[in-house]
Amino acid sequence: MRTEVIIIGAGPAGLMLGRLLELAGVDAIILERKSPDYVLGRIRAGVLEQGSMDLMDRAGVGARMHAEGLIHHGIELSFDGDRQRLDFTDLIGRHVMVYGQTEVTRDLMAARQAQTIYDAENVELHDFDTNPYVTYTKDGVTHRIDCRFIAGCDGFHGVSRQSVPQSALNTFERVYPFGWLGILVDKPPVADELIYAHHARGFALCSQRSPTRSRYYVQVPTDEKVEAWSDDRFWDELRARLNPETAEALQTGPSIEKSIAPLRSFVAEPLRFGRLFLAGDAAHIVPPTGAKGLNLAMSDVAVLADALIEAVSEKSEAGINAYSAKVLDRIWKAERFSWWMTSLLHTFPDTGAFGRRIQRADFDYLASSRIAQQSLAENYTGLPS
Ligand code: FAD
Ligand code: PHB
Repeated sequence: MRTEVIIIGAGPAGLMLGRLLELAGVDAIILERKSPDYVLGRIRAGVLEQGSMDLMDRAGVGARMHAEGLIHHGIELSFDGDRQRLDFTDLIGRHVMVYGQTEVTRDLMAARQAQTIYDAENVELHDFDTNPYVTYTKDGVTHRIDCRFIAGCDGFHGVSRQSVPQSALNTFERVYPFGWLGILVDKPPVADELIYAHHARGFALCSQRSPTRSRYYVQVPTDEKVEAWSDDRFWDELRARLNPETAEALQTGPSIEKSIAPLRSFVAEPLRFGRLFLAGDAAHIVPPTGAKGLNLAMSDVAVLADALIEAVSEKSEAGINAYSAKVLDRIWKAERFSWWMTSLLHTFPDTGAFGRRIQRADFDYLASSRIAQQSLAENYTGLPS
């Protein structure tokens, strides 16, 4: 079998790239290790920047997002119970959209798509410096697909980045000594907007998926086991980290999903190796505090799609030549912002008394400076590309 582009991974990055190539008439095949139900069952990000909303529209899959997504004009920060609202619309004239990654994935799956092969096991990348091809096993049978380009959109643990010789890859990493325990519940959100809370007991986030479905997180040590957290224990801990009025207003109920995500900052450089390109979590990881992971994946594939469309139609290789440097510029800015939000809002084992006073000073500065607020708002709602 032969195609122009093989996309490894049917997460949001792979599916969006597949859709954009399909719309441009570029032949592509997506290979995904898991089943469609498994892919849809993963509960992850919730906030879309304007650039991601625009990309959903460009891909022709924005209708449900506009109908059901919730426009948010700001967020609340809370520090040891002291509250500060940031009004993005007032500060920089921009807003974000609360629309879950699950829904983005569902919309992309439902659209006319590049051929997607689910349950593809043992995916291997070959000869991506010259004449690339990919092999995989499905139902016990091994297949081979030849192609001109490979897009590695297979997440942090995927095979694409691992196929690159170590000597060709520079990696930069910070692993944080904690994770986020997240809970999904069919109860109305505690507030209209997201609340990011710093507390001596640890960070907490009040997020949402719809007017009747909420998503909450608490910071937990890395080695924490989800089984150790009954719903009651989770709600008690969350309340303890919020200001009293918010804690009082919290509506609790049985969790419909509960999981722990580790926190990590990671960047691989470069993002092109001959005819192989890395995009999304395969290329970089941000801690979720800045709500950037999904948005970065979207901005990577927007650039990559244009570059591949140009290259496949033999118009120009300028786009694929510029891809790595272009997206890395944005990636590092998002890494910086996500690291900074994480440092401000979490409790670190070695923070100490000095560190906590610095965090407090950072919060007080934000609360008192419109310029500092504008900087946060500009980064949170998405830097221009
Ligand atoms: P992924 O969504 O990881 O998709 C990669 C796909 O490749 C998967 O479907 C996977 O099954 C497939 N794959 C992997 N290996 C292979 C292989 N060998 N062969 C074929 N297919 C393969 N971001 C936020 O902003 N907020 C959050 O709350 C948040 N929570 C997260 C929780 C977790 C547990 C994780 C892992 C990430 C979270 N993120 C969050 C980050 C955000 O979800 C990601 O940035 C986003 O999913 C990136 O999309 P992607 O398509 O690049 O990668
Ligand atoms: C979420 O709703 O899952 C979410 C929202 C904002 C974040 C991280 C996660 O910063």
